[in-house]
Formats: sequence, structure tokens, C-alpha cells
Amino acid sequence: MFSRYKKPAGKAAPLASVKSAPEMPKTAPVGDTAPKPVVIRKPMPKVAAQAPAVDKERKRKERLSEIKLELHRALLDNLNLAALETATEAELRSEISSISTEILEEKGIVLNREDRTTLNQELYDEVTGLGPLETLLKDDSVNDILVNGPQRIFVERAGKLQLTDITFKDEKHLLRIIDKIVSAVGRRVDESNPYVDARLADGSRFNAMVPPIAVDGSLVSIRKFKKEKLGVDDLVRFGAFSEEMAAYLQAAVATRLNVIVSGGTGSGKTTTLNALSSFIDNSERILTIEDTAELQLQQVHVGRMESRPPNVEGKGAVTQRDCLRNALRMRPDRIIVGETRGEEVIDMLQAMNTGHDGSMTTIHANSARDGVSRLENMIAMAGIEMPIKAVRSQISSAVNLIVQASRLQDGSRRMTSITEITGMEGDVISMQEVFRFQRVGLTPENKIIGHFTATGVRSHFSERFRLWGYDLPASIFEPHAAE
Ligand SMILES: Nc1ncnc2c1ncn2[C@@H]1O[C@H](COP(=O)(O)OP(=O)(O)OP(=O)(O)O)[C@@H](O)[C@H]1O
Ligand SMILES: [Mg+2]
Repeated sequence: MFSRYKKPAGKAAPLASVKSAPEMPKTAPVGDTAPKPVVIRKPMPKVAAQAPAVDKERKRKERLSEIKLELHRALLDNLNLAALETATEAELRSEISSISTEILEEKGIVLNREDRTTLNQELYDEVTGLGPLETLLKDDSVNDILVNGPQRIFVERAGKLQLTDITFKDEKHLLRIIDKIVSAVGRRVDESNPYVDARLADGSRFNAMVPPIAVDGSLVSIRKFKKEKLGVDDLVRFGAFSEEMAAYLQAAVATRLNVIVSGGTGSGKTTTLNALSSFIDNSERILTIEDTAELQLQQVHVGRMESRPPNVEGKGAVTQRDCLRNALRMRPDRIIVGETRGEEVIDMLQAMNTGHDGSMTTIHANSARDGVSRLENMIAMAGIEMPIKAVRSQISSAVNLIVQASRLQDGSRRMTSITEITGMEGDVISMQEVFRFQRVGLTPENKIIGHFTATGVRSHFSERFRLWGYDLPASIFEPHAAE
């Protein structure tokens, strides 16, 4: 029955007996018998006691995971890995199923149909993919996957982190999967080279750090790549910003203002940048520069660049700055840098100042003002010795607009402010906020209540918009209260 996928002279490797699942360390019960003091802080949510059903389910999972590990070893011993490369998915699945049935019979292990299907799927994922991570990678509701050692895998859904019941068998298993990922992109990770950034085959952004630098087991972060990127209409529909703001941003991008999207980690900066790029005319030549290529521009004329870290000998690095300098020789109409975080800031500002209007980038900052300070710091760190006034004047003439993206406490991602840079007043960069998200309260379910509003100021770029044929109605700049 074992066909060409089985090693020619292979005999099933002897299986170690399936041991009973080791007990997971239990969380110590919270013992508080002492009289309670007056509580002034909000009560912290208690760790829910594990119901017996949950416990049974956990035991079942542990048993399955033990069996899976044994079968996986046996499969690797039995499968002809070279032939696997040419096997179709159906062939491979049927092969895995027959090998596992045979081994289960041999071991006298009886599983119900559901467990067998799960087991075969997991074996398939182990052989071809990323093991336990595979289910999460396939789950479209998951944005981020965060692994803190083999036993704790978190996911981010709708802006909120959740602990999953998926685990790796042990650190060795986790390391094997990390190794599989990084060796596929020609990188290595080990004690002497303990962290790595990579891009998965499906485009997802991957970062891993292994012991001893990661103290309690390897740390993995995956930002899932979405084929269907959120567009402007989706973002308006999700309440990330309003129709009026979308109309304003369309005018700003189309009339080639230089835009910076500022925000915290995971706040939606790249998503916003990608959505804004849809307002760029199809006839323009756009060059994108990123550390990990995430942007998906819809225009015809797009050149994509991805920087490269040094290799193990510390050679061969190509920084974002190198890409940017080179890009300036490639006749771009616009340059988009995924995230400005270092010395490339100098070239970015210069590009914005010298004929590449309509360039865009993101920075890590919590407000427009904070964003400007970040730019100043990056310039100082790049070793440029310029009086602060000159630095600010460079920034104020390069950057026209700062769009602030935020992930709020209820997990929602919103554009909380759109701020125009209008020039200099003395030593200070002058700015005006044109739109903002006005928070008014919280629902009992801790959802944020609020609305978007214009601040009432007239856009500094109104005349430019008009001249370029984007005559925005005055009403979009009128503040309005909640309905
Ligand atoms: N308004 C939104 N509504 C729902 N999901 C969103 C929204 N904006 C972004 N997301 C999702 O949130 C996740 C993080 O977004 P994104 O990658 O744009 O953040 P980021 O600020 O660039 O993160 P990082 O700091 O890690 O680069 C993505 O999976 C994205 O699809
Ligand atoms: Mg990003």
C-alpha cells in the first residue's frame, strides 16, 4: 500500500509507546481569605477556573498531540521526501492517511473519525507546513500570531489579543518549525545568531528570537499578510475614518502633498498607507522601499524594493537608505517608504523637498507633534549636525500632512487625527488639526463611543486643491456633533 512516497526499502521505524500525557503545570489558585480592603481601583478580571469539560478537552488534545508526534516521526522515517515534492496534495493526503491508519492499527490505538481527521490534517501540516501555526495562518480572522515559548500561542483578532489552546509539543518542536521557516529563506538562527526577520512564502512578516536571548523559550511574531488589503471604502465602512476625511485625503494624495502616517505598533499604519496609495494616478511611476515588502499598490507602474540585513559574516547588507538613494536615480514620480526609522530620514526629507512631491511614509509616534519630534531625533541620531531651526525648517517644508493612526483600548483602529503642517513660527513648526476623532464615552461593554469631526479650520491647502480640480465643499470642514 505504501507507494512511491514511501522510502524504497523502508521498514516502519519502531514506535516508542504512547505515554500518557504529561500534566500541564496548573495555575495556583488565588487564595484570598483575608478580609477585603476597600477597593478603589477597577477590579482586575480573575483567571477563570477550569471547568471539568475544558480539562477533558485539554487531556484529549494532549493525547492527540502525543500520538501525532509519534506518527510524525514514523511518517518522516517512512515517507520518501524526494518524491513528496512532486506529489499532488490529494496523493500526499491519502498517503498520510494510509500510513497513519496502519500505524494506529499496529499500536492498537482507536480514534473516532473526528480525531482521525484532525490528526491527519495536523500531520499534513507538519510534513508540508508550519505545524501548529498552520491552522492560525489559514484563519482569516487572525491578524497577528504571537508565540511566547512552546506552550503559549496568542493571536490578535479584531484588535484584541487572545490566548489560544494550540501548543507546540516542546521547545525542540518550536525550534524545528522556526528553523524550517528561516532555512527556506536562506537564513539561519541559533545561539550565535539568535534573532531573525523573514518573510513567509505567503508574504507574512515573520520575526523570531530564540534562547538564550529569549529567556522562556523562543519568541515568534507573525504579522499575517492579507491578500485582500483593506481599501479606503472598507476602512470607511469599518469606521476607521469618515467619508469627509476620505474625500480630503483623496485630494491631498492626488494633489501630491507629502504625507506621513504616524501611529503606534500595530495601529494600522501600513494598512492606511496602502489605502492612501489607491488615490495615486495610474500614470505615475511609484517606487516602494520596505524592510519587509507588505505594501500592495494597485497601479501599473510600481517598482518594489526590499532592504536586506547583513549575512552571518556581517556582509551584504542593503539598507533602506541604500535603496532610497538608488531610487532617486530611477526617475520616480513618488517614493513610498514603508517605515522611516533611521538614517534614511535624511534622504526621505530631501526627496520630499526636491521634486518627488506626493511621497509617503510611516513613522512610529503617538501624535503629530510627537511625530515631528521623532523626525528631529532621527536626524540627530543620523549624525547630522544642523541647528534645530534648520532641521525644523527642513521638516516643515518637506512634510505637508500627518495622519495619526491609533489602536484604541477596545481594539478598534481609527484615524484619530489629520494634521496639516503650515510652516514655521519662529523656531516652532506650526500645525493645524483639520479632522479628529472625538471620544465621548464608553459603552457598558467597554466599546468606545465617539465620532469623527472637522475642527472648523480652513485647510491650508484649499487653494491648491481647487487649482488641481479638487473643489472640496466647505461643509466637510464644518465641525459636527454626534448624531
Ligand atoms: N481599520 C482597521 N480595521 C480593522 N483591521 C485593521 C484596520 N487597520 C488595520 N487593520 C489590521 O490590523 C493589522 C495591523 O495593521 P498594520 O500592519 O497596518 O499595522 P502597522 O501599524 O503597520 O503595524 P506595525 O507597527 O507592526 O508595522 C493588520 O492585520 C490589518 O489588516
Ligand atoms: Mg507596518
